[in-house]
Amino acid sequence: MNNINLQDDNEVLRFIKTENAEEMATLFEAAAALRSEYYQNDVYFRGLIEFSNYCKNDCYYCGIRRSNANAERYRLSSEQILQCCQMGEVLGYKTFVLQSGEDPYWTDDKIVETVRAIREKFPASAITLSLGEKSRESYQKYFDAGVNRYLLRHETANDEHYQKLHPASMSLAHRKECLFNLKEIGFQVGAGFMVGSPYQTPEHLLEDLRFIEKLQPHMVGIGPFIPQADTPFKDCSQGSLEQTLRMVALTRLLLPKALIPATTALGTINPEGREKALKAGANVIMPNLSPKAVRKLYALYDNKICTGEEAAECRVCVEGRIRRAGFVPSLSRGDFIDMQTTTQTALGSAPAQVAIDGAGAPSKTMHLRCEECQDSQAERAKVPEAVCG
Ligand code: SAM
Ligand code: FES
Repeated sequence: MNNINLQDDNEVLRFIKTENAEEMATLFEAAAALRSEYYQNDVYFRGLIEFSNYCKNDCYYCGIRRSNANAERYRLSSEQILQCCQMGEVLGYKTFVLQSGEDPYWTDDKIVETVRAIREKFPASAITLSLGEKSRESYQKYFDAGVNRYLLRHETANDEHYQKLHPASMSLAHRKECLFNLKEIGFQVGAGFMVGSPYQTPEHLLEDLRFIEKLQPHMVGIGPFIPQADTPFKDCSQGSLEQTLRMVALTRLLLPKALIPATTALGTINPEGREKALKAGANVIMPNLSPKAVRKLYALYDNKICTGEEAAECRVCVEGRIRRAGFVPSLSRGDFIDMQTTTQTALGSAPAQVAIDGAGAPSKTMHLRCEECQDSQAERAKVPEAVCG
């Protein structure tokens, strides 16, 4: 099906760098075919709840790093997180992803208590955490409380490059150790990296691929680096769409069963970025479930999309995009294929009216319209080829 020799570093490097349209098309087609073999054209939803933008770390690329005095900080309460999950449940999402900076306020006890409450209220849902680097004991506590998955991008697999992106207090060795611990404990694990981050070379990207081959994560998050105005990398160029797509496709070829998101960062650098990623082998989308009032504050990078909508509007927008790109939105849990616990559920048509309020709690009805896309569901039905974004 594909004639790329994935064991040959020089050949993989050639595909990492190629700008030849025909070669890229071959790569994307091979990746898409392999994705279809295991997951058909299904695209899985993960409801993302960005529950705190406090962080004790100081990654040079990240807009919520602790040194950014311009970041307006917020934390959701456990109750607010549960309200977001409730909204996700109404929208049909079967996976909740709780992501935050490394926020010391959120002790293990508080995390465990919140996870237990989610698990009790939504027993059939998958719970994913993305809280950064923790001790093995902490990860074990989360797992025992009912967490199924953990996302921790390694960011770059090259030690020297890692040191250029992070302060000396952080180490790639520790990040990798965390990933192996998470796998051993039994989580479905997501690693991943930024494309086009400052000082990155094609050889670094090859190392990223070799690292995920070794780790064998269940999920791989790949997004372009995008500068944020209040960080030391504010004047650096962003990662390119094409190179990010090539990395998505190569990752699919190396890990045929992986769950790979079409990332918000890709949608930020190109209006069709997420659709293009699906066509290059991705199969996950992560609509935002955070309350609208705090979305803009989780500003990892500039011009982030999907910060102006309520969760329900996001669902309609994203679902329409998936369908128009020729894919099938699925509201099953979307577990890693060898770890599936529930049967697949095809997504029905989106509810025209959904009860929500600003904090995500059901209370009043509203018409679904994605303000960013300026494209309501009714308008889309009339003009199915409408380009959104
Ligand atoms: N604290 C958790 C952690 O460290 O994994 C999760 C939050 S962290 C902000 C989530 C991801 O955002 C990072 O792994 C990084 O890849 C991505 N990110 C941060 N700043 C970015 C930027 N400027 N451009 C693109 N992605 C960025
Ligand atoms: Fe902590 Fe970005 S520096 S989440």
